Amino acid sequence: MCYFEVWIYKFYIQGIIVELSKVVPWGRSLSEYRDMFSLSSDDLEKKILGCGDGPACFNAEVSSNGGDVISIDPIYRFNADQIRSRIDEVYPQIMEQVLKNKNDYVWKNISSVEELGRIRMEAMTDFLNDYNKYQKSGRYIDASLPTLPFDFDEFDLALCSHYLFLYSELVNFEQHIQSMKELCRITKEVRVYPLLSISSNEKSPHLNLVMEELDRDGVNVSLVPVEYEFQKGATEMLVAQSV
Ligand SMILES: C[S@@+](CC[C@H](N)C(=O)[O-])C[C@H]1O[C@@H](n2cnc3c(N)ncnc32)[C@H](O)[C@@H]1O
Repeated sequence: MCYFEVWIYKFYIQGIIVELSKVVPWGRSLSEYRDMFSLSSDDLEKKILGCGDGPACFNAEVSSNGGDVISIDPIYRFNADQIRSRIDEVYPQIMEQVLKNKNDYVWKNISSVEELGRIRMEAMTDFLNDYNKYQKSGRYIDASLPTLPFDFDEFDLALCSHYLFLYSELVNFEQHIQSMKELCRITKEVRVYPLLSISSNEKSPHLNLVMEELDRDGVNVSLVPVEYEFQKGATEMLVAQSV
């Protein structure tokens, strides 16, 4: 069981963050997004939605390379100083949890807990620097699944890392299907990773049902292997393409 991720998530109540003192920020880099979602150079030129990007620096890095990305997350109602203080406050506790649950992860691309801490902190610092300048630019929007403030087919590609399917016990089937339909409404293609539930480290109980329902709606759905694996066994992404 990945208690560590449960510990992070339990502070969210159905996607609505009540107060910052309950948030545990933890974010990934463009390099990890590339591997989790098999992103090609062509993909990175598309109009992208980062869904639940939190303190990941994906948006900062893609934007600084001239890309077109909007991130949504309920933590974007807070400013950079507020998020930074919260990161500083909880970082030592997070590292302690990772150490305790070290065996839940594959230490291949990231070789140690110390390296993980350094990589995540660098990613969050890059996010904070960018967010501090561009919070109001339109690249960071305070919004939550399952309802997003965008038009039909506004994006080419939506990426959802470490939110849907991972928290299958806390986000129910109905919320999953509504969220996936909403993402399919606003974008041509959706990629979601990982697909394992944190509570079991096994395939999310919602995955097959969501795939069947999307298929009935005429969406092309498939499971595609990826190179990335950190949570043990998380080696596939879900790809949903509206036709
Ligand atoms: C574990 S973090 C992942 C952050 C980032 N995607 C990454 O991989 O580094 C999960 C994120 O989901 C966000 N989240 C929680 N409820 C959400 C909702 N209903 N809609 C969108 N994002 C949500 C949280 O605020 C948090 O930033």
